[in-house]
Amino acid sequence: MRPASSVIREVLEETESVRTLRLDHSFDPLPGQYMMLWVRGVDEIPMSFSGPDLITVQRVGPATRAIFSLDVGDSVGVRGPLGTGFSLTGRSALLIGGGVGVAPLAFLGERARAVGMEVTSLLGFRSTSEAVFLDRFRRLGRVVLTTDDGSEGICGHTSAGLCELDPSAFDQIYLCGPEVMMWDVIRRCQGMESRIQACISRYIKCAIGVCGSCCIDPDGIRVCVEGPVIRADRLTAGEFGRYRRGPSGGPDVCKSVH
Ligand SMILES: Cc1cc2nc3c(=O)[nH]c(=O)nc-3n(C[C@H](O)[C@H](O)[C@H](O)COP(=O)(O)OP(=O)(O)OC[C@H]3O[C@@H](n4cnc5c(N)ncnc54)[C@H](O)[C@@H]3O)c2cc1C
Ligand code: FES
Repeated sequence: MRPASSVIREVLEETESVRTLRLDHSFDPLPGQYMMLWVRGVDEIPMSFSGPDLITVQRVGPATRAIFSLDVGDSVGVRGPLGTGFSLTGRSALLIGGGVGVAPLAFLGERARAVGMEVTSLLGFRSTSEAVFLDRFRRLGRVVLTTDDGSEGICGHTSAGLCELDPSAFDQIYLCGPEVMMWDVIRRCQGMESRIQACISRYIKCAIGVCGSCCIDPDGIRVCVEGPVIRADRLTAGEFGRYRRGPSGGPDVCKSVH
């Protein structure tokens, strides 16, 4: 896929460290798919779609800091939509997201409501001041909120909110957020793995399935093309939740900003 140039039409401040950018055309993505965003002179990085023409960026390092210095009228390079999206099946969906990982789930929830599915959301943030898209989720249905510092909702990590819900009552569970959170949810929902879809993060370089940077042990699943949305029953026996390849290809601690 050839890179294209896209102009920023709108910049929306979500929190002190999270921004949403509206680009100048719709990419017609499925929720869960991503783009490679080329920040000229800095880096090309993966970003999920938070809407057909939206990306939602958390400032963590050089490329995302550079995105925060861009404004309406500036242009970025884009390749996408890339990878697999979430598939909508059944009549009821439980969305479970943490941090900026809720971004593709808001987009997914809106698509699910549009086809008549019932949507329930379990969302976790460090604190209320870091909460993203609560209004979007509240428009879709019931929201269970957790915050690490107890500033709103249940005090604790995202999976603490599972006590308020019966995961087995949902036709499909959709996950996106820190890997340890997704791993914990999958572990707590043992036996339901075939009904859980997780949007996962690995170090993506080529995004076309040739470099091996994003592969998951032991099957070598290439997250950039076979993911980022992967059914949980393909994730339970390997590296997921334990380690991941870092920028140099060697094993890295399993933590995720997404
Ligand atoms: C499929 C996918 C979708 C993503 N969607 C979003 C999103 O919607 N919003 C968002 O804020 N972030 C998203 N991310 C994470 C985002 O790509 C990183 O935060 C970004 O690349 C950081 O770059 P940096 O230069 O600012 O920070 P750096 O300091 O270079 O990196 C900070 C951390 O970001 C991760 N990272 C850096 N480069 C890459 C890369 N090429 N591929 C994967 N991870 C990387 C690593 O964990 C690294 O430790 C997504 C990642 C993936 C794989
Ligand atoms: S990023 Fe190169 S194979 Fe996936």
